[in-house]
Amino acid sequence: MTTVERGPVFVVGATGQVGGEIVRQLVRAGVGVRAGVRDPDRAALPEGVEAVRLDLTDPATYGALEGARRMFLLWAPGTDVRRHVLPLIDEAARRGVRQVVFLSILGAERVRIVPHRTVERHLEASGLGWVFLRASYFMQNFTGVHRDDVRLRDEIYVPAGRGRTSFVDVRDVAAVAVRAFAEGFERRAYDLTGDAALTYGEVADILSVTLGRRVRYADPAPLTFVRVTRSRGTPLAFALFMLAEYTVARLGLAGRVTGTVREVLGRPATSWRVFAEDHRQVWLRGDG
Ligand SMILES: NC(=O)c1ccc[n+]([C@@H]2O[C@H](COP(=O)([O-])OP(=O)(O)OC[C@H]3O[C@@H](n4cnc5c(N)ncnc54)[C@H](OP(=O)(O)O)[C@@H]3O)[C@@H](O)[C@H]2O)c1
Repeated sequence: MTTVERGPVFVVGATGQVGGEIVRQLVRAGVGVRAGVRDPDRAALPEGVEAVRLDLTDPATYGALEGARRMFLLWAPGTDVRRHVLPLIDEAARRGVRQVVFLSILGAERVRIVPHRTVERHLEASGLGWVFLRASYFMQNFTGVHRDDVRLRDEIYVPAGRGRTSFVDVRDVAAVAVRAFAEGFERRAYDLTGDAALTYGEVADILSVTLGRRVRYADPAPLTFVRVTRSRGTPLAFALFMLAEYTVARLGLAGRVTGTVREVLGRPATSWRVFAEDHRQVWLRGDG
């Protein structure tokens, strides 16, 4: 039987892509939000959201959870999963949290070494009600980490060959999280993808049409990708992490499409074409 918990939803990563979208959608739905952020004074949050200090690396801040029954959790890159995320889960259980919606990655159940699976296993053993959002690659990486490749250089610069990726829109991931909180889902893992898997060449074509200028797919060799990405200011560790991700796509292992977004939300997943239209201004240059 599912139990719908009341009271504010505690959101970790509320200033980030997924957490931020969850906050906006919860506020629109009239649900109270307590945002756990490292710097409450600087976090730009919607009106009515309670901002409290939470730093995963500082257990003295974990008391921010007091009184919350529901929590959205992610593993923030740069934090140590065992030292900084698992203790927060234990503290959440002690302080009465009952339902944790955790942002994971597609295929986490098959790759035991990823930090996301470590969190999943801890939640499974915790006695808490857990929901895993195992998300495919975000479309929003093109408005984030790859934004300037498109905006300034008219190219998609990733070494993914002709492999297909089942890109998902962060807004859909957030909508599933909001539904999980509203309906009290627990002990369920959702594999969240778009309704189609595209090559990066196809994505470049969509961007070209949307922007009215040619965006090409560069598909660099792996070592060239690392060298050029580093020369553009990306730390080596992150360049190597991206290389690993794009190699997975190159090998044809990132293209699995599930109908889960459609099943949970009762509507199609957001398409790449709609995502591109909605974010068009992000890639525009002053020269038009
Ligand atoms: N990108 C993808 O395609 C993809 C796909 C599936 C899953 N994922 C997973 O999604 C997660 C990242 O989600 P996202 O893209 O929404 O994150 P994001 O936009 O990179 O934002 C990270 C968030 O974590 C917060 N944070 C960082 N360090 C913290 C700390 N020590 N204590 C508390 N909060 C901290 C940041 O807050 P500040 O404002 O304080 O910096 C920010 O709100 C990762 O686990 C990633 O593996 C990503």
